Amino acid sequence: MTASKPGRIAVVGSNMVDLVTYITRMPAPGETIEAPDFEIGCGGKGANQAVAAAKLGSAVSMVTKVGDDIFGENTRRNLAQHGIDIRHVETVAGKSSGVAPIFVEASGENSILIVKGANADLLPADVDTAEETLRAADLILMQMEVPRETVIHTVRRAAEWGVRTILNPAPAAADLNVDDLRDLSFLVPNESELALISGLPTGSEEEIAAAALSLIERGIGTVIVTLGGRGARLVTRAGVVPIAPVRVTPVDTTGAGDAFIGAFAHFLAATGEVEGALAHAARYAAHSVTGRGTQKSYATPEAFEAFCRALPPSA
Ligand code: RIB
Repeated sequence: MTASKPGRIAVVGSNMVDLVTYITRMPAPGETIEAPDFEIGCGGKGANQAVAAAKLGSAVSMVTKVGDDIFGENTRRNLAQHGIDIRHVETVAGKSSGVAPIFVEASGENSILIVKGANADLLPADVDTAEETLRAADLILMQMEVPRETVIHTVRRAAEWGVRTILNPAPAAADLNVDDLRDLSFLVPNESELALISGLPTGSEEEIAAAALSLIERGIGTVIVTLGGRGARLVTRAGVVPIAPVRVTPVDTTGAGDAFIGAFAHFLAATGEVEGALAHAARYAAHSVTGRGTQKSYATPEAFEAFCRALPPSA
């Protein structure tokens, strides 16, 4: 399972400080209730994906922006401690860092608010500044917690450089124009993001396949639809390949999608094999929901191997 040759991954994306409250239920409007627990952690979809890939052994660079507050310094330190190249982590004067108040229910299900803060200042010019680092990468990862024009610019520049790209279109936006993503190698939406982006229903397996194919017809290379407890679907012009779910008892599902994408990028860059990388990613994400928090629930290669050894042979 260990990757043969670790790859180089670059992330053009967000970082946040996660303010995680563990709740028994959400308060009604105007109501105050007590919650049993609170934790603060490093998060943000971009940073989470970067940390997952780095923990697994990829060489990771991050292009992002933090605020000039204590959170910004902490984020910078956290990325560096994970061995991530932070030469393109810039501090924005007068801006707060991104923060994410998160509510986790006893079932492990989560609800998230994001305040972009300095992430909103990551612009196409910053991608150009980081060109040397980005064009040396095997894969560039993106999400939608930074300005859309930065994502579109990165997809276009990466295509010119011949670097493959992965976009996790979260948070989803209905007005995202797929034609702007024509050069994208991999789109990794969940069901609702796929429905929003394609404008098509995703209520059944057939509808999911048709919606994903409609995006491929418009120029996206491959669509990987994540379905939570139902696994994932790899959709190409050749058809749909189901990626089996890995069943665990969830403690906290926050950041599981990011664990999946970071691990997918790691194993894809290392092995060049999409289906195998997705199967590893499904296991890595399953492991992450068995612990609290986002990045801190991501396994080291040793912990991941032990988790996989303990799974039933079919998983
Ligand atoms: O995907 C989980 C992440 O979403 C959290 O870490 C939070 O920061 C938000 O970006």
